[in-house]
Amino acid sequence: MKLPYKFIEIVLLLTVFAFLVNSLDNGLVPTPPMGWMDWERFRCNINCDTDPDNCIGERLFMRTADRMVSDGYRDAGYVYVSIDDCWMSKERDSQLRLQADPKRFPHGIKWLADYMHQRGLKLGIYEDFGTKTCGGYPGSEFFLMSDAQTFADWDVDMLKLDGCNSHVDQMSVGYPTMGLFLNKTGRPILYSCSWPAYTGSGKKTDYKLIAKTCNMWRNYKDVEDSWDSVYGIIQFYAEDRDHFSSVAGPGNWNDPDQLIIGDYGLSWNQQKVQMGMWAIMASPLFMSVDLDKIDAQSRSLLLNRRVLAINQDKLGIQGTKLMSKAAALDVWTKPILPKGSLAVAVVNGNNKGVPRTAVIQLKELGLTNPSGYNVTETFDGTALGLFRPLDKLTVEANPSGIYLFTAVPINTGAKTIIV
Ligand code: GLA
Repeated sequence: MKLPYKFIEIVLLLTVFAFLVNSLDNGLVPTPPMGWMDWERFRCNINCDTDPDNCIGERLFMRTADRMVSDGYRDAGYVYVSIDDCWMSKERDSQLRLQADPKRFPHGIKWLADYMHQRGLKLGIYEDFGTKTCGGYPGSEFFLMSDAQTFADWDVDMLKLDGCNSHVDQMSVGYPTMGLFLNKTGRPILYSCSWPAYTGSGKKTDYKLIAKTCNMWRNYKDVEDSWDSVYGIIQFYAEDRDHFSSVAGPGNWNDPDQLIIGDYGLSWNQQKVQMGMWAIMASPLFMSVDLDKIDAQSRSLLLNRRVLAINQDKLGIQGTKLMSKAAALDVWTKPILPKGSLAVAVVNGNNKGVPRTAVIQLKELGLTNPSGYNVTETFDGTALGLFRPLDKLTVEANPSGIYLFTAVPINTGAKTIIV
């Protein structure tokens, strides 16, 4: 009897899966990964003849890498430079290996990885679990093992594995299988899965299994260059369906998608919301912006060390929405170090003209240290003073804006880290 190819693959995948025990064991990303990814800003522009600076080709990644070094991003922690879709040739080579488009990547991916490594950066790449990528390039279905080896041979440091053109019900086996193959290469490769972005709609998602398998995972729609998109993502995280915040922690992160700070669609206040909330949500920070063109204000926001310290806090706790003070005036909290401290965001999702005020008693936030807390506004570092549990703090959040602060307990013997 001739068995269908698909059936054979499923049996193979199941066999491999049977041997899987906590497949993810690469020791990577104890804090949320930081870097740059081309997709949101540069998309599938393959027209290198007429648009050589912006097309998906090695030149874009090299000039970005140079900026990451010269403009301080690398030293702030942004180390991954990640190639998204549309980097490949439409065909595999004679040995069925993936190959980069030879015209746009004349030196090949291994050479580009070396370019990154020589500059203290890491290279990320994109593939898809299905027959084709979302952009229609060859997918990894039937090639998971050999593609994992190809990426390792090229010294790639990160794989984003998308889920277009695949069967959703195979993902809970297929994604762990790819994780196993990546591990088997012996090269630590950050594994970014798009799995729950495909299974999530309406169905219950097994985030525990996902966190066992992936270093980070997209679980919602693609970010686009608009406030509606960014605020929609924040609302999804506020809802926290299937309690996905609870599985985040060192090595495993929910990914609300790229930062669009410095692009076209967000006002200054809205950019601060994205940066502040991605910090509160312990999100991977992948900028998607033209680093040759970004203005100084957006750059300083991406490099704000107090905001980054919240994102990179070693406890690795994903912040959650605690309460609403009024409609679309939400208070979020994230426990941070030193012990007993909290980062707090007040987000005004409303676009109506005037700033809105939130009055917060520290006790409401769970802050009960009788000696009180040193409270500091985060973006500018302004010290707001000492507040005790029954004291009230009055803060203002601009229209589609944020107020971000930290509260650090005093007299606990813990050292306050001043950044
Ligand atoms: C999907 C992903 C995006 C991007 C594109 C590329 O839409 O969610 O992040 O990778 O595919 O085609």
